[in-house]
Order: sequence, then C-alpha cells, then structure tokens
Amino acid sequence: MNKVKCDVTNPKLAIEGRKRIEWADNEMPVLETIRERFTRTKPLKSVRVSCCLHVTKETANLMLTLKSGGADVKLCASNPLSTQDSVAASLVVDFGIPVFARHGENHKTYYSHIDTCVKHHPQVAVDDGCDLNNAVHKILKNKSSISWEIYGGTEETTTGVVRLRNMERSKVLLYPVIAVNDAKTKHLFDNRYGTGQSTMDGIIRATNVLLSGKVLVVAGYGWCGRGVAMRASGMGARVVVTEVDPVRALEAVMDGYQVLPMTEAASLGDIFVTVTGDRDVLTTRHFRSMKNGAILSNAGHFDVEVDVKGLKKAAVRHRQISNVVDEYTLPNKKRIYLLAQGRLVNLSAAEGHPPSVMDMSFANQALSIEYLVKNTGKLKPCVYPVPEQIDTKVARLKLKAMGRTIDILTPAQRKYLNTWAEGT
Ligand code: NAI
Repeated sequence: MNKVKCDVTNPKLAIEGRKRIEWADNEMPVLETIRERFTRTKPLKSVRVSCCLHVTKETANLMLTLKSGGADVKLCASNPLSTQDSVAASLVVDFGIPVFARHGENHKTYYSHIDTCVKHHPQVAVDDGCDLNNAVHKILKNKSSISWEIYGGTEETTTGVVRLRNMERSKVLLYPVIAVNDAKTKHLFDNRYGTGQSTMDGIIRATNVLLSGKVLVVAGYGWCGRGVAMRASGMGARVVVTEVDPVRALEAVMDGYQVLPMTEAASLGDIFVTVTGDRDVLTTRHFRSMKNGAILSNAGHFDVEVDVKGLKKAAVRHRQISNVVDEYTLPNKKRIYLLAQGRLVNLSAAEGHPPSVMDMSFANQALSIEYLVKNTGKLKPCVYPVPEQIDTKVARLKLKAMGRTIDILTPAQRKYLNTWAEGT
C-alpha cells in the first residue's frame, strides 16, 4: 500500500471492497475468459493505460483484466458521487493498482485526479463521458505537441461519444477513439437493461417510494429511456414519455406510453427521470407546475438535465432529508425532492449497473484496447466503431457462459441469403 501512489478515502475498507469485487466477478464470465487469455499472452505488456470510469466493483474487474494483460494502469473517477470507497481501497491495497477517487470529492479534487491520470502519459485513455480525453487534448493542443506515443482511446457512454464526434467534426481529435458505447453488445444491454433496473433501484433505495399507481415521467426514449420506461411500467407505474425526436416519440406511443411535452407532463408526474444526454430538460417553468412531493432524478451522464441551480434559486427553503435526498420548498408551498443532487441516480444512490451487463461492456473495452495496441499506426484520428468481430465474439462468449446454444446456418441457407435470383 505504501508503495502505491493513490488518493482514496480509507484503505481500511479494502477487506469489504475485495469481497464486493469477487462478488461481481462471479457474474462476469466473459471478462474472466479474456483475463485468462491476457494472463497467458500479455497483449498489453508495459502499455500505460489511464482509466476515467465509475469506480465500482465491476470496473475493478476490468482493471484486474488490463493489469493481467501487462498494462500499467491508473484509475480515476468519471463522476464525483459514483465511487465505491471500499472498492477503491481494495484495488490499491490488495491489487497494487493506483486509484485516485473519493466518494463525494469536490470539483477541484475530481479534476486534479483526472490530471494525475493525464500525467501518467497514457498510451490508451479509457473514458466514460470524455472528461479524460478532453483533458489529454487540452494539454496536447495539436499533433506536433504529442510528446509520447498514444495508441488511442475508448469511450464507454453515449454522452462521451457525442462529445468525441463533435471533436472529430471540429477536426481537433488527435488520436483514434473507439466508441465502445455503440457496440451492440454494449448499448442494447447496458444502456437498456442496466440503466432500466439500476435507475429504479436508485430511486427506491433513496426514497422507498411505491412505484405501483404512480405516474413516472421519463424524459428521453433512447436506449436508457426505453429501459427505464419498461421497468417502471413493470412495477406498476403509469409511464409518460417526453421526446424531441419524432421517430422515438412514435415508438414510445406504439409501445403503449403516453407521450407529452414536458410542460404538460410536469403537472402529472409523481416521479421524474431525465435520461436525454441534453441540458435544461427540467427547469423552473416545470418546477412551478409540479405536484407537491414530486421526486426528480437524473440518469443521464452529466448533472445538467435538471436545472439544479434554478431549483435552488427558486426555493424559499431547503432541507437535507438524507445524503441522497434534498427537499426544496417553492414559494407556492409545494415541496420538490431532488435525488443525488441531479447526478446519475443509479450510481449515486445505488450501485450502478449489475455486473452481468458490465461483463459485456467491459469485455468490449478490454478487446478494443487490445485492438488499438495491435493496430497502432494504422488508425486515423477518428471515432471508430467497435469492430464487428469483437461485438459478435462478446455475444457468443456471453451466450456460452449462460449455457445457451443457437442454430447455425446450413450451406443452402447461407447461399440463399447471399443471392438475389431466387424467388417464389
Ligand atoms: P440516446 O441517444 O439513445 O437517447 C437519448 C434520447 O433523448 C434521444 O431519443 C433524444 O431524442 C432524447 N432527447 C434529447 N434531448 C431531449 C429533450 N430536451 N427532451 C426529451 N428528449 C430528449 O442515448 P442513451 O444511450 O439513452 O443515453 C442517454 C444518457 O444516459 C446519456 O447521457 C448517456 O451517456 C447516459 N447513460 C447513462 C447510464 C447510466 O448508468 N445512468 C448508462 C448509459 C448511458
């Protein structure tokens, strides 16, 4: 421990953290398969990898996989409230991995931890939300100022991919980045089933509210929003969806949900979940028309979806109900409850996604990092999809681990599917 540079809350929590890491590992068989191969073949030998990820028990298993492949890893948090302090402690004490993350760290410490990971001069920057890749780009500024060999980066979430594509479009991206989020075996499962379940978990742990009979408003019917709507509906809530994309709004209508503009939904909702990746989704004009006791939560990446500053300004009284529930009383005497300060409710008030989905997300991460190292010099400074063969491999490994088998195309079927001449 003394030799490992770190900034964690309490190294004594390592005993608990190790058990949690092992618990998650039981549900991460795909990553385990990759770890076994990495241990034998060392594809990341001496590669400096900086990771800016939610410091959870699932992430710990990714760190151990990268380390077993020979990587020289450093880890910081991608959100000030998502760090599991016991896991951070165990990574340092039990596994010798430098971690710079404390649950509840302030803005300054959050960025100083990212800075420590930048100073590691990462050859691969593994990110969740693009704060790390952004910080690397800030010190590099242009291609000629790159003073160490960079193979590339990877990005875990939708918001990070949006930011990276904006960088690519503005021609400021300096190295290749793989959009791990866009792999089918990532967003179809992690964003939908992971966010769906863990968001409900966060709301319930924070409030113990009964979902049954409530009106739950989901802002954004993307991969995460579909999952939240599905799970809330399954628990007996009546779901109202707000959208800006007509196709997704139509999909929500056909899936059986009520679709309304937020100005109308605001007065109907008992519970609100924003999951758009956009800003100012719930603002003062909505707060004013909300019911007394309305609960506001956010599952989108940044804390900009609910206008927290506006809520604080509008309130005549504030009380902290618990460490994840704040009560704001408006001049009209209505009380509004904000969960987790408007930050990711599933990671701040619960434990984030279940290990079983992170198994696939992090298998994509590990294989994409290996791909970047293998293909160094061959890739342009662009945002790349996860190669199809990696996505398919992850799905096959997951099915195998779940003991499920599928059909195989016969030669005649393969030929039929590749022809244009055969008809009725
Ligand atoms: P997505 O792009 O599939 O869906 C976002 C949806 O929000 C789109 O349909 C878009 O039209 C809609 N939208 C945008 N602005 C809106 C507005 N003002 N009002 C209503 N709808 C609006 O994205 P995805 O994958 O669902 O991700 C959403 C957010 O959740 C992102 O910030 C992403 O990074 C984050 N995320 C969070 C996770 C968690 O653990 N809580 C896990 C994965 C992603």
